[in-house]
Amino acid sequence: MLGLLFLVLFTPGVSESLCVSSDLEMSYTFCDSMAHAFMINLTPCNIINTSVWKAVLSWIPRSDISFLKIVFNVWYNGAKALHWKEVLCSGADDKYSVCGALKGETIATTFDIKGARIKFPKGNYNIIVQAFSDDSENNRIICLNITMIVTQDAF
Ligand SMILES: *[C@@H]1O[C@H](CO)[C@@H](O)[C@H](O)[C@H]1NC(C)=O
Ligand SMILES: *[C@@H]1O[C@H](CO)[C@@H](O)[C@H](O)[C@H]1NC(C)=O
Repeated sequence: MLGLLFLVLFTPGVSESLCVSSDLEMSYTFCDSMAHAFMINLTPCNIINTSVWKAVLSWIPRSDISFLKIVFNVWYNGAKALHWKEVLCSGADDKYSVCGALKGETIATTFDIKGARIKFPKGNYNIIVQAFSDDSENNRIICLNITMIVTQDAF
């Protein structure tokens, strides 16, 4: 029940701030026009000198998550920079706690995002993160449109 307290039903089109600091600004909207019970928080809100971020996720998915594939598309200053896919849940030996969650169930989890080998030069990033419940990418369960502005270069 406690998890529900942290959940906000976001309205489509409204940009939610993820974080703002001296070297980083992040916000996101949903790509589609549906409301989602979804919230994510990232710490620290820094790019410089950070190699691991802790993400706190609260989410009530609209479908069961027995299979979960994440597709990332990143644009840097308007040019496509990265396309990356990963199957997070396949139904066997899943190592993420979201795997196996049922439709309508509250997921509250924390995980680490490691970016040690990725350098983010100063500039504007647009990151589209899509989650699918099937391998052929027909059933999209959520899509985030993340805007990330790096305001300082790491040395
Ligand atoms: C993401 O947001 C940007 C700026 O708000 C917009 O130009 C772009 O079309 C959006 N992309 C998607 C896939 O919704
Ligand atoms: C990053 O780390 C270096 C070396 O430890 C330090 O000199 C610098 O001030 C740090 N920068 C920021 C923005 O924390």
